[in-house]
Amino acid sequence: MKRATAVAAVAVGLLVAAVADAQVKKGKNRPVTTKQLMSGIVQPNCAAIGAAVQQAPADDKAWENLATNAALLNEISYTLVDDGRCPDADWATAVTQLRTASDAVLAKALAKDHAGLAAEFPKITESCGTCHKAHKK
Ligand code: HEC
Repeated sequence: MKRATAVAAVAVGLLVAAVADAQVKKGKNRPVTTKQLMSGIVQPNCAAIGAAVQQAPADDKAWENLATNAALLNEISYTLVDDGRCPDADWATAVTQLRTASDAVLAKALAKDHAGLAAEFPKITESCGTCHKAHKK
C-alpha cells in the first residue's frame, strides 16, 4: 500500500515535470524552432491572407495563391502540436482556432467569396492572440 502510494507520487511528479518542460520554443526531436515556423510559414501566409482581405484577388491565379496560403496555415496547425509541442490548454485551444479558421478561409478562397473571406479572417488572427498571450514572451 505504502509502496503503491510512493509509485503514484513519483508518477505524478514525472507528469508535472513533463508538462513544465513541454516544447514551446522547439519540438522534441526535429530541428525547426517555433520562431522559424512563425517567421517562415505562419506570418507570411497570414499576411498574404490579410492583404487579400484589403484588396480582393484580381484573377484565378491570385485566388489559387490565397487557397495555398490558407491550406498551409491549416497544415501548420498540425505541426504546432507535433513532436512534443503543446504545453497546455491555451496552446491547444489556439491551435484548434487556427485549424478551424484556416479551413473556413480555404473554403472561401476556393469559392472566390471575398465577403466571406473578410468575415472569416479575423478568426485566424484571434488564434494568434490566444497563443501569444499565453506563450510569446
Ligand atoms: C499555438 C501557439 C501559437 C499560435 C497559434 C501562433 N503563434 Fe506565433 N508564436 C508563438 C510562440 C511560442 C512564439 C515565440 C517563439 C520564440 O520566440 O521562441 C511566436 C512568435 C511569433 C512571431 C515572432 C517570430 C520571430 O521571428 O521572432 C510572429 C511574427 C508570430 N508568432 C506570428 C504569428 C501569427 C501571425 C499567428 C497567427 C496566424 C501566430 N503567430 C500564431 C506561438 C504561436
